[in-house]
Amino acid sequence: MSFENLPGHIAIILDGNGRWAAQRSLPRTSGHKHGAGAVRTAVRGCHARGIEFLTLYAFSVANWSRPKEEIDALMRICTEFAEGEHDELIRRGIKVQIIGELEDVPTRTRRAMERLIADTAHGTQMTLALALNYGGRRDMVNAMRALAVRARAGIVIPEEINEETLREYLTTSTMPDPDLVIRTGGERRLSDFLLFESAYAELFFTETFWPDFSDATLDDALTAYSRRQRRYGRLPAEALVASSG
Ligand code: IPE
Ligand code: IPE
Ligand code: MG
Repeated sequence: MSFENLPGHIAIILDGNGRWAAQRSLPRTSGHKHGAGAVRTAVRGCHARGIEFLTLYAFSVANWSRPKEEIDALMRICTEFAEGEHDELIRRGIKVQIIGELEDVPTRTRRAMERLIADTAHGTQMTLALALNYGGRRDMVNAMRALAVRARAGIVIPEEINEETLREYLTTSTMPDPDLVIRTGGERRLSDFLLFESAYAELFFTETFWPDFSDATLDDALTAYSRRQRRYGRLPAEALVASSG
């Protein structure tokens, strides 16, 4: 399959692991384990299709309110992913970043992620951003706090703060805005994901549970994306001229 206009940045809310497991009378953690397999599928699929940035929402700041056993299992699966995929990500030239507050993630997971970030830093084929302990509102609050501290110190002039200044303080500062946000699992909400950055993203919702995510799911999303007209507030005819020029 080939697409005329590919999104430069795809961001995915991986949802439905628990329901996938429940359908099979398996524990929720089994759904998360199979979800890790779908992460591999998504990374390979996006890399093969020439996507430059892929962001995966793996654990939100709100997910700390889940039972401890489930959190432990999720963190273990993240650690195993970082260790198990380490060599292949380097081989494919995929650079890994974390968005979110990595300092508050359990030590073993944090170390595995730090090693993955350091060892893949020279990758030029694709950037994979893992949203771990991430919250869109939290990220904006952190950015505003950092700006306020600098304003108080006289380094930042409040009247000169604009969208670009704020952007520089978000954990997503090195990435372009997502063009396409995909959510699996059937819910139609953002759940605190990339709130600032998704202002003009195209949204694609699928009933497919995350562990069942496949190349076909990805191609469905890319097909839908290729048919959308992004207007950014312009009239349809003007948007057409702008996007073809
Ligand atoms: C997504 O699956 C994984 C995380 C949020 C960490 P869920 O665990 O939310 O699965 P459902 O929504 O309960 O099916
Ligand atoms: C969103 O899924 C968070 C992640 C995918 C990490 P949730 O399952 O936590 O979201 P809600 O609770 O349905 O909004
Ligand atoms: Mg869920």
